[in-house]
Amino acid sequence: MRRKVIAGNWKMNKLPNEAIEFMDSLAKLVKDTNNEVIICAPYTDLFYVLLQAQGTNIKVGAQNMHFEDNGAYTGEVSGEMLKAIGVEYVIIGHSERRQYFNETDETVNKKIKAAFKHELKPIVCVGETLEQREEGLANDIIRNQTKLALEGLSKEEVKGTIIAYEPIWAIGTGKTATSEDANNSIKEIRNEIESIYGKDVADEVIIQYGGSVKSKNAKELFETSDIDGGLVGGASLDPEEFSKIVNYDK
Ligand code: 13P
Repeated sequence: MRRKVIAGNWKMNKLPNEAIEFMDSLAKLVKDTNNEVIICAPYTDLFYVLLQAQGTNIKVGAQNMHFEDNGAYTGEVSGEMLKAIGVEYVIIGHSERRQYFNETDETVNKKIKAAFKHELKPIVCVGETLEQREEGLANDIIRNQTKLALEGLSKEEVKGTIIAYEPIWAIGTGKTATSEDANNSIKEIRNEIESIYGKDVADEVIIQYGGSVKSKNAKELFETSDIDGGLVGGASLDPEEFSKIVNYDK
């Protein structure tokens, strides 16, 4: 049985005092869950969030990293730096980074390799646009993104990768994929992984759904055969609402 992993992606939200307050509330609300809980905070909040997470079951992730360890890359933060302060997870290739910051399948692949080099666990985002879905290309797109993202990784590394299927048309729009559609897309991703790395790897890899996950739709989504939890944007900003998603099975 794969575990459920529920990660909050705060995106560019929350000042340190708000982050501290949030963590204080969330820790109490999710202390009894068996699901894995991760908060992916902006760089400027990470240190505070890490301190607050100590002694709780909440894990901490960043939202991006550079693939080099150091050097003349003004404004960037490396995997080595994240590891040094105690970060455990890192989101890589979010569609907002692909769309606004020229992230490509190639940089995504480099960043995943750099994450493993520094023993960070990558949460890798894939997903199609509405146009691609309407043209019937969704499965090809997500299979290809998955293949390119994981290229050159060992079986063990693929097993340790979390994939987040986030259809771009469902992000921040209030439009959720139906649980059946999301589950089918995730099966496609799992089949792609099976075709390259084998069934043992495909059966183990955690694949989340993301895109307008809320407390009212979490249960239906997460109880399908292949959806192993969620990557949650807007609904992760409020501790009460996010805790209800984490505790969907209570
Ligand atoms: P929303 O939950 O706000 O739709 O965002 C999803 C997302 O992009 C998480 O990474």
